[in-house]
Amino acid sequence: MTTDTTGTVARDGDSRPGGPADSPFIRACRRRPVPHTPVWFMRQAGRSLPEYREIRASVPMLESCRRPELVTEITLQPVRRHGVDAAILFSDIVVPVAAAGIDLDIVPGTGPVVAEPIRTAADVERIRRITRDDVSYVDEAVRQLVVELGDTPLIGFAGAPFTLASYLVEGGPSRTHAKTKALMYGDPELWHALCARLAEVTLAFLRVQIEAGVSAVQLFDSWAGALSEADYRRFVLPHSTTVLSGLVNSEVPRIHFGVGTAELLGAMGEAGADVVGVDWRTPLDVATGRIGADKAVQGNLDPCVLLAPWPVVEAEVRRILEQGRAAPGHVFNLGHGVLPETDPEVLTRVVALVHELSSRRADQG
Ligand code: CP3
Repeated sequence: MTTDTTGTVARDGDSRPGGPADSPFIRACRRRPVPHTPVWFMRQAGRSLPEYREIRASVPMLESCRRPELVTEITLQPVRRHGVDAAILFSDIVVPVAAAGIDLDIVPGTGPVVAEPIRTAADVERIRRITRDDVSYVDEAVRQLVVELGDTPLIGFAGAPFTLASYLVEGGPSRTHAKTKALMYGDPELWHALCARLAEVTLAFLRVQIEAGVSAVQLFDSWAGALSEADYRRFVLPHSTTVLSGLVNSEVPRIHFGVGTAELLGAMGEAGADVVGVDWRTPLDVATGRIGADKAVQGNLDPCVLLAPWPVVEAEVRRILEQGRAAPGHVFNLGHGVLPETDPEVLTRVVALVHELSSRRADQG
């Protein structure tokens, strides 16, 4: 439940005209008719924006995530600049893990680095359960943002147990996830204990965001594509299900995303998603065939396409809009995050093009 600037109480379940719950983005997540196809970009806050680089010049990444006034400003920047249909909270997937007591840092050019990687049952116990007080800066930022954003929905997010476990077990980013898989295959009991604890932290973190007023949540299992479907079902699905199913009564749509997940799309939907994120490898009509007609889809534009000349970008936008019509709900997005070298002007043009092409189609009935 949230209170807007006029003091009106708004709930996501209430689709009063004009409120975030009635926005094209939330309507598409719920597979309802939309005035135009909604569009936002993973990693839209940060990355290529000069106004972001200016703010971050003197503030380390984790510290910027813990300063509500900075989080609010950075989250709003892409909404102002591009006119996207949703904002996503500026933060990182390791923020709740750090709040749970794990000593880690986000190293420029590398990513999250964990001082003492998790390898034993005693290590798992070092990951404390979190309450709102542990992440009060997120609670505060979301509350500020909901007021500032008005009718534009805010997406909250968290990392899924597998992707978080990979950073914690490896100690940092990994191409092969070798240590993670060695633990998973070699000590399934410890693996499940670790993922169960991470699911608890993630669920608590998402509940804080929902209580503070986000209109949707996205669970990032960015590296789940490293697994076969059989291993995903055995080692990961139960824990991602704990998180997503744990939010079923919250009335906000749940998006579930990973990269390289062509073989996992059906299973990722089963975890309890309303929307399944699709990378650039699987066309949206094919993805819908795998996910089923009871879920919306999001994604598919290769972030690298944005570095190509405009006619190439335009052709890809048209293709994705066309193939997205096979799904019962379509949120336009990239197949993974915006690359830092992307020209922000191209992002703005993509938003305008998606809106123009999809509303024209609506006019034609
Ligand atoms: O690159 C930027 O946008 C600048 C700020 C920044 C974020 N994370 C914001 C973020 C930085 C420097 C990081 C560090 C980090 N954390 C990296 C990047 C390392 C690098 O230098 O390129 C990575 C890979 C992580 C771990 C991480 N964070 C993952 C796997 C995810 C899930 C999304 C994905 O890209 O697969 C995140 C989430 C994240 N980090 C978000 C933001 C704003 C939220 C998601 C979003 O906006 O879509």
